[in-house]
Amino acid sequence: MQSETTIAEILPENYRFLQEHIYSRVGIVLEDNKHYLLESRLAPIAMELGLGSINDLCARLRTDRDPAVAHRVVEAMTTNETYFYRDPAHYQAIRTVLLARLKEERSDTKKLRFWSAASSTGQEAYSLAMLLLEQDLKDWNIQILGTDFSSKVVERARLGLYQQIEVNRGLPTAQLVKYFTRSGVDWQLSRPVCQMVRFETIDLRKSMRTMGPFDLVFCRNVMIYFDNETKKNILKELHSTLFRGGWLLLGGAETAFGLDDLFERQTVGSATIYVAR
Ligand SMILES: C[S@@+](CC[C@H](N)C(=O)[O-])C[C@H]1O[C@@H](n2cnc3c(N)ncnc32)[C@H](O)[C@@H]1O
Repeated sequence: MQSETTIAEILPENYRFLQEHIYSRVGIVLEDNKHYLLESRLAPIAMELGLGSINDLCARLRTDRDPAVAHRVVEAMTTNETYFYRDPAHYQAIRTVLLARLKEERSDTKKLRFWSAASSTGQEAYSLAMLLLEQDLKDWNIQILGTDFSSKVVERARLGLYQQIEVNRGLPTAQLVKYFTRSGVDWQLSRPVCQMVRFETIDLRKSMRTMGPFDLVFCRNVMIYFDNETKKNILKELHSTLFRGGWLLLGGAETAFGLDDLFERQTVGSATIYVAR
């Protein structure tokens, strides 16, 4: 039997091959010093496929044009960390400022559209859904779209089923009691919340011109994995999906820097938001 070290070993030419494979398929830039990340995420795939090593996995990717394996490798390299009400200042800004404005501006159509781009396992989109349910919006048509590159996390998001450790992160106890029921050792989000959100797989690098218009787009904690050109293109596309005056919310380490003609940076309470010009 092969030892763990042998399975995880990656030859320099295969490291470069994987960098290219991942960049071309999802846009994620894998720096030269991320051996541990590749090893920990790809060794289990190599083992499951009955291959001796990640080098063998690379040989398979090169020769056997199996799209399922190619996708699995890329999917394994996405980081899906998320939790309920992550960056609470954003939700506070929606609650206190954005909704009041939208209620006035959309009083004729009573229609609101939101998008959680890079939604991972759904906590971002469902946090928004619960927040909206707590507002006086009963006769409003509310649509929330959640999208992610990874079909694996999209499938999980659709289930609305969360582990104890996941509901312990960021979710107020009152909302756990109100919107979830026990399902074995897990927690099932209630139907009214799940029904407010539709999840789809979408690669952010694709054209988004036919999507929208949205009142608000979350695109948080994903741009950090892209190079500047990819970031810039995505921000331009995101701008095209927003109503004029619509909000773009980015992660704490992300900015729309250099796109001042498209977005105006504003501060609402302690949140930074980008308003579409
Ligand atoms: C760290 S999670 C962020 C989740 C959530 N937005 C948050 O802030 O909590 C990043 C997500 O981006 C997704 N992702 C990475 N590259 C992507 C791409 N090219 N298109 C769409 N989603 C992508 C990953 O699959 C992952 O689920």
